[in-house]
Amino acid sequence: MAETSAPRIVYVNGAFLPIETASIPVMDRGFLFGDGIYEVTAVLDGHLIDNEPHLARLERSLGEIDIPNPHSREAWTEIQQALVARNNLSEGLIYLEVTRGVAERDFLSPAGLTPTVVMFTQAKSVRTSAALAKGAAVITVPDLRWARRDIKSTSLLAQVLAKRAAAAAGVNEAWMVEGGTVTEGASSTAFIVTKAGEIVSRPLSHAVLPGVTRRAVLRLVAEKGLTFVERPFTVEEALAAEEAFFTSASSLVMPVTSIDGRPIGGGSPGPLTRELRQLYIEAALEGR
Ligand code: PDD
Repeated sequence: MAETSAPRIVYVNGAFLPIETASIPVMDRGFLFGDGIYEVTAVLDGHLIDNEPHLARLERSLGEIDIPNPHSREAWTEIQQALVARNNLSEGLIYLEVTRGVAERDFLSPAGLTPTVVMFTQAKSVRTSAALAKGAAVITVPDLRWARRDIKSTSLLAQVLAKRAAAAAGVNEAWMVEGGTVTEGASSTAFIVTKAGEIVSRPLSHAVLPGVTRRAVLRLVAEKGLTFVERPFTVEEALAAEEAFFTSASSLVMPVTSIDGRPIGGGSPGPLTRELRQLYIEAALEGR
């Protein structure tokens, strides 16, 4: 799980470098404008989990903001695997970012910029986490984000503020609320399980990021013959839910046991959530 004491290696524009010597120019548009796209893929037992849909979403996000995708899927995967190997990473995350490139600061950029590519790994327990045994606590906060949340943009100020509010409240995650319904977590997709046993999450639209883990979990839900209902749900419905959970590459399937200080279900991780987490990990390791 832990990386060795060998130097941490990052990838910048074609080069594998010790992190201390790697740098990005001051005029990079990712730094100046948040003009970039990112992806986070989980690594379990040295394997990239659900990486194809992450790379498909990368392609789509880049296309939506008109940044050329610098690599084919095969080339991306090769770089990711090389970085995992160079860092001897068994479990954790791999982060990649593509920015529009480097140019004198101006809202408009010259044509033909070469995108900047950065990639690094983070050694971290993904299968076990402090929050897992008793479940995550979440608070609700207003969703302050822009209108194209389906694009995985590096402009994450609203999420940073939501996470800061969660930390200040002593909880693990913030669920963002717009017009009375939950859009999603600050860095996760939000789900509830109703008393009738329906699994509910918001439909995909410009209002939310199309979660890769969400997609995988929905496949498992269908395989188990459970009912999934795609619709927005209110905070009140969440408070009355039998179970709640959130999904992401970094948390996989995380039970939620309190919302705004009020216990959900019995106040401990729900059985359906625990089962979906287990099934997700099994399927991920089987490479499905
Ligand atoms: N975040 N919604 C938002 C706003 C997210 O930032 C994320 C992931 C998700 C879940 O997507 P996926 O299942 O594809 O990871 C939903 C990553 C983990 C992050 O920003 O670190």
